Amino acid sequence: MAQIIAGNWKMNGTAAGLGAYAAALRAAPGHAALVVCPPFPLLPGLAAALAGTKIAVGAQDCHAGESGAHTGDVSAVLLKEIGSAYVILGHSERRADHGESNAAVNGKVKAAVAAGLVPIVCVGETEQERDAGEAEDVVRTQLTHSLPESFSGLIAYEPIWAIGTGRTPSEADVAAMHAAIREALVAQFPASGTATPILYGGSVKPGNAAALLGLPEVGGALVGGASLNAADFLAIAAAAPSD
Ligand code: PGA
Repeated sequence: MAQIIAGNWKMNGTAAGLGAYAAALRAAPGHAALVVCPPFPLLPGLAAALAGTKIAVGAQDCHAGESGAHTGDVSAVLLKEIGSAYVILGHSERRADHGESNAAVNGKVKAAVAAGLVPIVCVGETEQERDAGEAEDVVRTQLTHSLPESFSGLIAYEPIWAIGTGRTPSEADVAAMHAAIREALVAQFPASGTATPILYGGSVKPGNAAALLGLPEVGGALVGGASLNAADFLAIAAAAPSD
């Protein structure tokens, strides 16, 4: 299965820059499956600019409900209607900035799956939790509580201390965590858990992508900062093993 390289623009990007970014992606030879997740207002424009390609667009959050009195929120149904195929859920920045609990993430994942979106559910430990030897337990708990029975989609393992810091776990630590996540997914979802792609995220760059993407049970990457530059994003995708 081709690896999936997803770009998380976070609160970055402009409408003015969209055309050049999309053109660079369109011109690149196909490698991994690409997903680009810009801020909400840029989704329709990016979907239009990438129409006719295999490159998908995704959102960075959705509400658990279909519609209603939720000022400032966006439903999965609307995201699907305007051309999103994916949605990042439970990112550590949302868990921290907006107090999103595992239960809240669970509701959002349900809504995303029901709307036909592919959720990219983020899990990961703090540095203190890793130092205390609790990283795998923390991630297992996040998986158990954040994933509803109806889950189908992707997992992104993102150690919080590796996000935006230029630091990454050792290859052995990434491999061990991905193996633990695989085991937990198989236990929770006997029918589908063996096939759920597990992305690695946290300071993935062109220079470390080949090593990270070559590790066992790493099915792709969730890329923040380096996805803002089309050339860097494409260099990361080009480092993915082809099959
Ligand atoms: P980073 O962010 O690549 O800038 O570390 C990753 C993420 O938060 O998804």
